[in-house]
Amino acid sequence: MLTVGSSCSSLRLLQSHREACPRANVALCRRLHCTSWLTYPARYRVVSSSARISKMDSDNSSSVSIDTTDQRVESFGFLTKKVYVPPPWACHLRPLPSHVFSLGHLPTPIHRWNLPNLPNGTDVWLKRDDLTGMQLSGNKVRKLEFLLADAVTEGADCIITIGGIQSNHCRATAVAAKYLNLDCYLILRTSKVLVDKDPGLTGNLLVERLVGAHVDLISKEEYAKIGSVTLTEILKEKLINEGRKPYVIPVGGSNSLGTWGYIEAIREIEQQQQHCGDGNVKFDDIIVACGSGGTIAGLSLGSRLSSMKAKVHAFSVCDDPDYFYDFVQGLLDGLEAGVLSRNIVDIHNAKGLGYAISTAEELKFVKEVATATGVILDPVYSGKAAYGMMKDMAENPKNWEGRKVLFVHTGGLLGLFDKVDQMASSVANWRRMDVHESVPRKDGSGKMF
Ligand SMILES: Cc1ncc(COP(=O)(O)O)c(C=O)c1O
Repeated sequence: MLTVGSSCSSLRLLQSHREACPRANVALCRRLHCTSWLTYPARYRVVSSSARISKMDSDNSSSVSIDTTDQRVESFGFLTKKVYVPPPWACHLRPLPSHVFSLGHLPTPIHRWNLPNLPNGTDVWLKRDDLTGMQLSGNKVRKLEFLLADAVTEGADCIITIGGIQSNHCRATAVAAKYLNLDCYLILRTSKVLVDKDPGLTGNLLVERLVGAHVDLISKEEYAKIGSVTLTEILKEKLINEGRKPYVIPVGGSNSLGTWGYIEAIREIEQQQQHCGDGNVKFDDIIVACGSGGTIAGLSLGSRLSSMKAKVHAFSVCDDPDYFYDFVQGLLDGLEAGVLSRNIVDIHNAKGLGYAISTAEELKFVKEVATATGVILDPVYSGKAAYGMMKDMAENPKNWEGRKVLFVHTGGLLGLFDKVDQMASSVANWRRMDVHESVPRKDGSGKMF
């Protein structure tokens, strides 16, 4: 364990690699302007203009003391590939990832979420994975940290992935790939009538096209007939014939390797929960949206293996629960986890009218949550999951009374831009300012002032 003490206000937490403390899960760090000692995951190090560092032996006795006055302890680790050291409770899983890229701004904050109309004594907290960075990439960054490390280790020069026309995963992959100097090829599913037309620049498409991703459109019918695996294989072969070295990432980044992203998130939450509220919150439940299954696989396996033991509730926004129990089981088996998906996660159906189709009621809920709490939910994933959670709390309040619930906000803000027409009437709060023409100008001369 690395302990850092400092009395100065110049401490800066910097993201760094897990090699920093190969065996340690935590580094006790004192944060800029903070009065209390906080615990951070091993990937965080401290840079200080005057910090005293003690390296602890495995028996926790201090063995080395270094004065790092005016000395950078560790270089900034963003976008670096590191040897991966799993949490001790996940060491038995196989295969273990060999490397991980630092792509996200982690740890993401956890704060209390003052939702109205909660059951008696129910405390809801929000894990802000919408703030993982990488151009609003949400939960996808955590998976990509492992998947892109594998791609680079394998010597890939480009990435292929696939998803819906407004896929957050495809956009996140396009951005992250470009950061790592890899080309990105996206196969995007759209309707039969739009498949031969320019897909436009709405939401995620604008970002994908800005970063220069190659976009191949496929109709929903062709996609359903051929399947995502074959479609990516066809493109892979084509690129290999052109002399490229492509690496394929499946739909949503959800395979067993990507699952490590949310196993790691549990390590993060496990450490953070000790510092929530008055200092000792233990979450009873974790709630999250489910689209391709990788996030819930990692959260539920991590929660089961770690000390957290929180019950994970997934709200599926596309397929039925039975499909996801089977799919998640495949991911768990791919890690030789030896657990049954049905024993570690409760999957609820929250798809409503269908994937990415919002009811007026759901969009009204997104608006109400934004107005009441300042938190913007996306309409396709966390909006539907939070709507499902609140509905269940209203219908079965006794099941939730007194529980400490952690809702994981998985991002997807750009999806809202697809709903502007549907939402326009509920956000019509504007007016022309009423000023009399005789009001004189007082000060400032520039156009802006
Ligand atoms: C914003 C957002 N939230 C949640 C999910 C669901 O995560 P997963 O695909 O791991 O189930 C996705 C992707 O599908 C997403 O883009």
